[in-house]
Amino acid sequence: MSLVNVHNEWDPVEEIIVGTALHAVMPHEDKGFQVIQQASHDLFDSLVPGALPQRIIDETEEDIQHFVEELEKLHIQVRRPKAIEFKEKFKTLDWEAEHYFSYCPRDILLAVGGTIIETPNVFRSRYFETFEYKDILLDYMKSGSRWISAPKPRLLDELYNDSDPSQSALRNLEPVFDAANVLRAGRDIFYLVSDSGNELGCQWLQNALGEEYRVHPCHNLYSSMHIDTTICLLRPGLALINPSRVSKDNLPPLLKDWDIVTAPDMVEFKYSDLGSFSTAWLGMNLLMLAPNLAVVDKHQLPLIKLLEKQGIETIPLMLRHGRTLGGGFHCITLDVRRKGKLEDYFS
Ligand code: NVA
Repeated sequence: MSLVNVHNEWDPVEEIIVGTALHAVMPHEDKGFQVIQQASHDLFDSLVPGALPQRIIDETEEDIQHFVEELEKLHIQVRRPKAIEFKEKFKTLDWEAEHYFSYCPRDILLAVGGTIIETPNVFRSRYFETFEYKDILLDYMKSGSRWISAPKPRLLDELYNDSDPSQSALRNLEPVFDAANVLRAGRDIFYLVSDSGNELGCQWLQNALGEEYRVHPCHNLYSSMHIDTTICLLRPGLALINPSRVSKDNLPPLLKDWDIVTAPDMVEFKYSDLGSFSTAWLGMNLLMLAPNLAVVDKHQLPLIKLLEKQGIETIPLMLRHGRTLGGGFHCITLDVRRKGKLEDYFS
């Protein structure tokens, strides 16, 4: 039976990949990184370039270890990537780049149904990141999962718009998207069109998934990286939204009949002066383990209270350096198998 079998963001999790902070490096020479950084000052707040200090890595690994232990207590199968250390730049035909790190499987791999997709990421430094998951992907393939890779993007300089701030930082020249631009809700898939995912990426995903699925491009929702600090699908009929980005005017039309709860202001916290690779809204980057159970940043007490009011229990944990590394509990995981089947939640 395929080890990859997942249809939405909320059914009970059976198997999950959890990333690692080992060998974390900020790829400041990466054209994609630079251009998105330039387009989103609030996102990359005084981020220190280069290798991250060992303390940040060790403390993150410690936080991840606690998280993994909680998952294993719930009998969830956890897999981890094999981190590759960046020593030298690599080259393609057109450019050279540093190698990034495998903290966020959510960005580079997308699991939908029995298929796992290597996505065509926006950063050059992530070109070979799925190599760190090769053994896991091989196991999935051997179990019957469909393992495919999007066409490798060329990521030429002209893909990145660094001249017209009124337009997206990412041009629509070839399919490019991070998997974290996507949310799954049965036959319906939300796709954020933004600096980390273009229209051609959306089209490629629709073609790859076929007629069983409807991929909905979401425009004017959030211009920067990833959808999972903007909308969280909590269970059928219930979504959490970021009020600084989503209103009734730009709510994806599909959600108009769902109950919408508005996230409270996020609680700020600081464990280093190394800057941020995400806004404070990373606090709403929660992971649903079941329709009534979420892993949430433990600092976010107002959010925890709100979820509990909705009948969702929480496991409060921390990623002290999540903002510096650019990932909360949804980002640093990839749920590949959940109980449940393919359904239609919007008809
Ligand atoms: N770019 C998002 C974080 C995505 C993980 C934000 O800063 O809100």
